[in-house]
This record gives sequence, C-alpha cells and structure tokens, in this order.
Amino acid sequence: MELSPTLPINCTSFKVSIIGAGKVGSTLTQRIAEKNLADVVLLDIIPGLPQALALDLMAAQGIELHDSNIIGTNDYADTAGSNIIVITAGMARKPNMSRDDLIQINSKIVVEVAEQTILHSPNALYVVITNPLDVMTYLVWKTTGLGTYQVMGMAGVLDSSRLQTFIAMKLGVYTADVSAMVLGGHGDLMLPLPRYCTVTGVPITELMDEDSINQIVERTRNGGAEIVELLKTGGAYFAPASSACIMVEAILRNQSRLLPAAAYLQGEYGLNDLFLGVPCRIGCRGVEKILEVDLTPAERESLHISAESVRQNIKLALASLG
Ligand code: NAD
Ligand code: LAC
Repeated sequence: MELSPTLPINCTSFKVSIIGAGKVGSTLTQRIAEKNLADVVLLDIIPGLPQALALDLMAAQGIELHDSNIIGTNDYADTAGSNIIVITAGMARKPNMSRDDLIQINSKIVVEVAEQTILHSPNALYVVITNPLDVMTYLVWKTTGLGTYQVMGMAGVLDSSRLQTFIAMKLGVYTADVSAMVLGGHGDLMLPLPRYCTVTGVPITELMDEDSINQIVERTRNGGAEIVELLKTGGAYFAPASSACIMVEAILRNQSRLLPAAAYLQGEYGLNDLFLGVPCRIGCRGVEKILEVDLTPAERESLHISAESVRQNIKLALASLG
C-alpha cells in the first residue's frame, strides 16, 4: 500500500511569522514549536539563513515530539494569513552602545517589515521585539494602521523575569514563587517596582533590606547591558525568546494573562500617545485591558521621566524616517 502526503487542507492550526532569523528569532521559533503553539514561518533578509534554521529545527521534530511545521523563507508572501507577526529584525547593540543608539538603523528596518507583513496579514496581531523597543512598537503601530490593541512590545516580561530571578537568587527561593513587576520604557529608565514584588505573597520589603533591594533593582536595569558586555557580539536571546513566547501563548490560547508589555497609552498613568511598559491583560484580541496600579508620587514621576525619554526617541525615529 502506498502512502502519500495528504493534500494541504485549511487546518485550524495557528500561524506565527517571525521576521528576523537571528538569535532571538530562531530561539523563539524553537520555543513556539516545542510548545506546540503554532506553525512558524521564519523570515530573514539573508538568503538561506531562515531556510537552514527551519530545516535544522524540523530535523528535531520527531525527537522533540511536536507537530509544528516550520518553514524558512526570504519571501513575505509566505507569511500570508499569519495570526501573529513577531518582529525581531534589526541590529542588536554592541558593548558601550545603548538601545537608543539603534534608533536610526532599526527604524527603517522595522517600518519596512511592518509595511511588508501587513500587506499579507491584514488582521494579524503584532509582537515587537526589536530595540529600542518602545519606539519600534510605536513605529509598527503607526505603519500598520492597526488598532492600538493589536500591537504590543515585548520587554516588560523580560525585565520582570530578570528581577524575579535576581530576587530568587538573593533569597535562595524557587524562582516561580517570586512575582516581580517592572514598568516603563525598556531602557536605563525602566521602573522596577519592589513594592509589587512578592515571594508566595510575602512582600520582598519584608524579606530583604533596602540596600539589597536597590542592588537588585540596579542589576535588573542593567540586565541587558550586563550580557552585552560579557557576550561582546550581541545581546541576550534565551530569556527574550521565552518572554516573547509566553506573550504569543497568551494570545493563541486566549489566556487573559496579566503581563507587563509595551502598550499604547491613552490617558493611563496620565500619559498619552506613546507605547510604554505597563501591566496588560493579554488574550486572543491582543491587549484587552491596561491595568493602572497605584503608584507613589515618586514612582509616578519616574514613570513619566521614562515616558519622556521614549517620547523624545519617537521624535528622533520619525525624523530619521524623513
Ligand atoms: P541578530 O543580529 O541575531 O538578528 C537580527 C536578524 O535580523 C538578523 O538575522 C538580520 O539578518 C535580520 N534582519 C536585519 N534586517 C532585516 C530586514 N530588513 N528584514 C528581515 N530581517 C532582517 O539580533 P538578535 O539578538 O536576534 O536581536 C534582534 C533585535 O531584538 C535587536 O534589535 C535586539 O536589540 C532586540 N532585542 C530586544 C529585546 C527586548 O527585550 N525587547 C531582547 C533581546 C533583543
Ligand atoms: C536586553 C536587550 C537586548 O534587555 O534589550 O537584553
């Protein structure tokens, strides 16, 4: 009896297109496939790169026991009909660079990617990763013309995960028992919130002294740079990929998770017309709700300072696009 592949049918599996087959994009492809969340299209500007990585990942399908189909391509037509577009295309920073130093080059890349992808997936939700994150997310929203709830940026989950880990390391506790929150821009002005960090519900302010908390907050702020300085050739990608993956999962499984993400503010926290890291309820429609947590005057001031920095960088990005 001869077996042959069944004709492709319009199956109900989800489709995620990841633009940028670099360290973050390829690692995220692996995360999504091995969690069986969706089929993945991995696209890059470098001929052969996404195709090679997709083939390599598919070669592990029987071992990793998933049925996500992964293809690599340089053709945006292959991304057609995506449920989610993840944008990791762009330059990563090198030692002694800030994320803001990437504005000029990554603005052009991200706008081009947004223009190309929205043509083929007019109803997609977007998860932006390219840095400087809050600015790039704004550009994607502006370029696609999508609703504010349909575009979000990944950074708060990563920064909160770093804070969570550093707290767990300091206290010698199980990391998943730690709950941590970081708001604001994904940069030196991010706002870790020790008041909202707990270990199994116990506030960390009852578990460690102020100096220890300040050291952990500082290390979290510097979390990305610490890895860039060590790695020399780029930035973090394992934790970023994991962070983006739980956002993709929250959307595809309609989990209504409360996650920190760069979302468009329309008066929340007294801020307007920019994307900034805030607690969001994320489900199948995208950013379903923005949660306004109580902030002390000092925390609110810090958030506004962070927002102003993002706002200035948005202006720089728009100016660089002409
Ligand atoms: P990388 O250099 O490994 O990968 C970037 C990929 O983008 C490369 O393969 C490159 O060929 C591709 N690319 C460049 N221009 C393109 C275009 N026009 N179309 C399609 N692909 C294009 O970098 P990485 O480590 O994967 O990081 C990617 C981006 O994500 C960087 O900007 C980095 O700073 C950012 N990042 C953000 C976070 C976050 O928390 N938001 C975390 C990690 C990395
Ligand atoms: C980080 C950079 C890459 O936080 O955004 O690791």
